[in-house]
Amino acid sequence: MNPQAPGGTIALAGKNASRLVLGTMRLTGPELWGAAPDPNLARRVLRDAVHEHGITHIDTADAYGPHTVEELVRGALAPYPAEVLIASKIGMVRPSPPQWRPLGRPEYLRAACELTLRRLGTERLDLCYLHRVDPDVPLADQVGTLAELRDQGKIGAIGLSKITAEQLAEARRHAPIAAVQNQLNANEPEDPLVADCAAAGIAYLAFRPLDVGRLAPAAALGFLFGLGPHVAAVAGTGDLGHLRQLVDAARTGARA
Ligand SMILES: NC(=O)c1ccc[n+]([C@@H]2O[C@H](COP(=O)([O-])OP(=O)(O)OC[C@H]3O[C@@H](n4cnc5c(N)ncnc54)[C@H](OP(=O)(O)O)[C@@H]3O)[C@@H](O)[C@H]2O)c1
Repeated sequence: MNPQAPGGTIALAGKNASRLVLGTMRLTGPELWGAAPDPNLARRVLRDAVHEHGITHIDTADAYGPHTVEELVRGALAPYPAEVLIASKIGMVRPSPPQWRPLGRPEYLRAACELTLRRLGTERLDLCYLHRVDPDVPLADQVGTLAELRDQGKIGAIGLSKITAEQLAEARRHAPIAAVQNQLNANEPEDPLVADCAAAGIAYLAFRPLDVGRLAPAAALGFLFGLGPHVAAVAGTGDLGHLRQLVDAARTGARA
């Protein structure tokens, strides 16, 4: 089965990636820590997203679990269909469940990328985000390291997550940026980067599009897709019925 991508597509990292992106952050144990309580269900969500619903963009991070979700993605989807864009994020460590700490030293980012490739079971990651800017490391060094990884063929494109307009402008002086992933939804609708990304030809990935389940999917996705053809929504679910609702909402939202 090869259904149409829900919400249409965005050209990104050499692929036509669906504007409904499956976010995998919650496919873990409690507190976003450890393995999912029902790994078979989590794998089914990932497989159905791609094979039943035509989602061609999966969003993960080494910090989810940590590590467990990248392994889950591999178990569910590798070898990856050519049309599917796998995105992950590096540069954040989890010393314990409540702690999320940026770590952007170049040697750490290089090691983190190697391990992400191994866990995902691929030689090249389509899209690699700097999960957070580390305030203790020059941004030029963090982005420069991702540019090195791109030049080495280990990643296909560079993304930045949770950044400001000033950080994007600075980062673009050091490397081409393909995607920005920031929090945006109808309850928190302001981000100047939506316009900046449109002007610069950068994909804008809205994370937390449902405001963690507080917004009805159709209105939430309709709002985001109405902001421009460069905007995609990274929505998370571990529930097969909710996945289907998200897909229906994306198709409705893209038509609105
Ligand atoms: N770049 C970053 O720093 C960053 C930060 C946070 C998140 N993210 C990305 O964004 C993704 C989404 O973020 P999020 O999970 O925080 O927020 P979200 O997508 O706004 O909301 C997810 C929540 O909504 C529920 N939900 C999903 N579909 C639903 C439906 N049809 N009806 C009712 N409830 C529904 C889910 O519960 P069920 O599981 O029960 O469906 C889950 O609790 C993450 O998976 C991750 O990939 C990125």
